[in-house]
Amino acid sequence: MPEYDYLTKEQREFFLEHGWLRIPNAIDKRILDKWMSDFWVRVGWDEHDKSTWKLDYLKMPKHHEIPPLEFSPDAWKAMCEIVGGEDKIDKEREYLTGDNFIANFGSEYWKTHLHPVKDAKGWHTDNDYYRQFLDSSTNALTIINCFTDVKPGQGGTFLAEDGIKGIVDFLYEHPEGLDPPFSYLYRHIKDCNKFATVEAKAGDVFITHALLPHSPSKNHLHEVRVITNPHVNLTDPYNLNRPDGDYTLCEQVILRALGRDSVPEFKPTRPREVYFPRTFTFKRARVQEELDRLRRGSDQRAREKEWL
Ligand SMILES: [Fe+2]
Repeated sequence: MPEYDYLTKEQREFFLEHGWLRIPNAIDKRILDKWMSDFWVRVGWDEHDKSTWKLDYLKMPKHHEIPPLEFSPDAWKAMCEIVGGEDKIDKEREYLTGDNFIANFGSEYWKTHLHPVKDAKGWHTDNDYYRQFLDSSTNALTIINCFTDVKPGQGGTFLAEDGIKGIVDFLYEHPEGLDPPFSYLYRHIKDCNKFATVEAKAGDVFITHALLPHSPSKNHLHEVRVITNPHVNLTDPYNLNRPDGDYTLCEQVILRALGRDSVPEFKPTRPREVYFPRTFTFKRARVQEELDRLRRGSDQRAREKEWL
């Protein structure tokens, strides 16, 4: 049987039932504060003057990255146990955790307009960088690191807990694998009924199964919400046919949604492929302008010091 030193029985059951788990206060506060201290300089807008906030939503590139064990030690323990052990994790692709923030600023408009979960249009899973099969573990976990509080109405991610089933059923029917983009993979979400919305304190980490569909929501508070979304990639595909039944929690989520104890008949009929993610070029283009602002900011601070 897989061993669990960190996760309690309740936490394991919660992950299986909902497809996600919250680890409170998991991010090292010194790292959170340090990375967030540059946030407004990087964005280039005035934190205290919302008329300078030019966008509702912004995906930013990465300037720093460190191993997840240093970033959020408890969350890392939980991630390792959910995928069946640290040795299963790919330590090269997408391994490090960085400050590639996803900021949801909201707007005056959304302060007075509703946006219920049934209206959300951005349903997806983070899978745009590989050919996806039922047993693909290229992305095994999508992580939501919360750098600010995420209050109700502050743009917390929508999660469709009963949306996993439609995805695994479709993948089961398509052993040839699916190539991005896959908007057709989320058509069933309109019929889902079991939704959750991320609400958090700064420092919380949400660990979600990579097949849990999620969507951005609108920020009705017009107070910035900052997260990152790293992934946990595994080196080998899931094993959905274990004679001893010792499935990892990630594998159990898939089998549960399929309503099966094993799927020995499933065999990919095309090679596995990995691609560049869609946002790669866009984020790369922002790096230089952020660096210029950071440099100007530090020159300014140096001048102020001389003056004092
Ligand atoms: Fe996502």
